[in-house]
Formats: sequence, structure tokens, C-alpha cells
Amino acid sequence: MSIAHGIKRLGVLGAGQMGTGIAFVSALHAKVPVLLHDKSAHQISKGLSLIDKLLAKDVSKGRLQPSDADEARARIQTVDALEAMRDVDMVVEAVTENLDLKRAIFRDFAAKIRPDAILATNTSSISITKIARAVIPEGASAAGEEGKAASGRVVGLHFFNPVPVMKLVELISAVQTSQDTLDRSRAFAEACGKEVATSQDVPGFVSNALLMPFINEAIMCLEKGVATRDDIDKTFRLGMAHPMGPLQLGDFIGLDTCLSIQQTLYKGTSDSKYRPSVLLERMVDAQYLGKKSGRGFYEYNN
Ligand code: 3HC
Repeated sequence: MSIAHGIKRLGVLGAGQMGTGIAFVSALHAKVPVLLHDKSAHQISKGLSLIDKLLAKDVSKGRLQPSDADEARARIQTVDALEAMRDVDMVVEAVTENLDLKRAIFRDFAAKIRPDAILATNTSSISITKIARAVIPEGASAAGEEGKAASGRVVGLHFFNPVPVMKLVELISAVQTSQDTLDRSRAFAEACGKEVATSQDVPGFVSNALLMPFINEAIMCLEKGVATRDDIDKTFRLGMAHPMGPLQLGDFIGLDTCLSIQQTLYKGTSDSKYRPSVLLERMVDAQYLGKKSGRGFYEYNN
């Protein structure tokens, strides 16, 4: 028997590529009203125009009735402050990858949002257990009933870019996550049209613990002159049927994001096999961050 996710209203924090994509699939496929918040008005307007473009494309391709597109769009509302999210049943955080920032946000969520709402993070590598620890009220014991109830509602819900296209959501259980939170989060991801793979809370989870060393190794190959950029990417596009070679994929994800995840793997395991490539560090120093900055291993006309 399938489990009801019980999400009647969703909050999404962060209107970047990931937050916008999460709002889009939630409104369109799960048909859930979404409150979208970002501290940048510019980011909100960029996010909404991407959503409008995606809906218009689906209508023009005959995959979506105009009335269904209008209904999906009407389900997405932007809000100025977290206070407006107090009645949501689940919030998904998709802001910059920074543990202290996420801890502060989750502490804020815990104080402002209904005590039974699920608190999910779209983090790509930060420990869910460390984030969950931050929501335990001051003075409460982590293992006591109050601490368990507070931290049990925190979960990792890792979507992939571009969210409307990629079929997977990685579901990550913190040490503290309750079974009810896991079951309802899985049901919600499925309602968004995704398949779910679960991972324990290890640095990078399954996805990035395997993907980032691959991209990092590809950059090391380029650095050592083992092969050219184009031959490295061609090898994986044509030899292994990857949609993008590892250097193009690094550009697509963002080289700063790749470096930050690789550093998390290195710090989290103390294993030298995860040492970031010097060339990756230099590209980020130069602010050649990939597609988003117009230059990475390739050049882009954004
Ligand atoms: N947002 C929404 N939709 C997008 C999109 C975007 N940013 N970019 C492309 N699409 C859609 C297009 O509109 C098109 O849709 P359609 O079939 O309805 O017309 C479809 O994707 C295919 O696009 P294109 O024909 O323009 O281009 P490609 O066929 O080259 O596909 C791609 C583009 C889907 C991005 C493909 O190259 C791909 O799958 N690349 C690999 C992506 C990947 O590996 N993502 C995971 C990154 S890792 C991650 O996210 C985890 C994080 O923690 C780091």
C-alpha cells in the first residue's frame, strides 16, 4: 500500500536553479501549492520566468494543456519572509552550500514552522545529521523525546540538475530522521514524478561520493596532459554513452560547487584520494566557474 505524503502546502527556500526546479515539479506533478522564498528579488524574478518558459515549452510540445499549465503556475506563490511559511507541511531548503548558514536556517525553520512539518534540505554533500542537530531546542537532550521529535523531521532530499529533466531524488537519512519522515518524503518525491534512491549520511552521499572524484580525476588527466579536453569528454560521451563528458559536466554543475563537494569529501574522510585537483582550485580562483560564469573548461554565451 502506498503511503500518503500528506503535503498539502510546500515551502521552498532558495529560487536558484534547484529551488526553482523543485517548485516547478511540485506544482506541476505533485499538484501542491508552493510558497517560494528567496532574499534576492532578482533571483525570484529569474526563477519565475524560467518556470513560465518551462510551462510554455510543455504546452507548445502538446504535453500539457494550457489550462493545466495555468493551474500549475497559479500554485506557485512567492513570499517575502519565512514567517509566511508557518503553515506548510514540508519545507525544502535549496540555498548556498554552507553548513553554518544551513544550521541557522534550520534553527529558524524549527522556531517558525509547524512542529510536525518535515524539514528537508537539498544539500549535495553537507551532513544531514549535523543540520538535524541544530534544530534541537536549547536545553533539550538530543536523545530525549523533545530532541528526537525535533531532529526526527529533518531529512535530505537531493534533486539533480536540471530538476525537471533528471528522474532521480536521493533520499538521505540523518542518524536522527524518523521512519515517518522518510516514508512521507519518499512518497512526496514520487508524487513529483521522481524515482528514489536512498543513501546513508556519508560525505557526498552515494551520488557525489562517486561523481565528484570522477570529475576531479578527469581534471587531473587534463592537468597532467594525458589527453585533451575534447578527447576526455568524447571518451565518456561516445565510449560510455554519458550525455556529457566529465569536464562539460563539471562546467554544468559549477566548478565552485564541484570544488566545495570535493573538499567536503576530503575533509570528511581524510583520504588523500579525494584531494582536489590543483587545476580545479585555480579555475575557481580565477572565477572560471563553468556555464554560469560564461567560462570554465568551455566558453558559453549566456
Ligand atoms: N532546465 C529545465 N529543462 C532543461 C534544462 C534546464 N536547465 N536544460 C535542458 N532542459 C531540457 C530541454 O528543455 C529539453 O526538454 P524537451 O525534451 O522537453 O525539449 C531536454 O532537457 C533536452 O535538452 P536539450 O535538447 O537542449 O539538450 P540535451 O539533449 O543536450 O540535454 C541535458 C541537456 C538534459 C542537460 C543533458 O545534457 C544531460 O542529461 N546532462 C547531464 C546532466 C546531469 O548529469 N545532471 C546531474 C548533475 S549532478 C547534480 O545535479 C547533483 C549535484 O549535487 C551536483
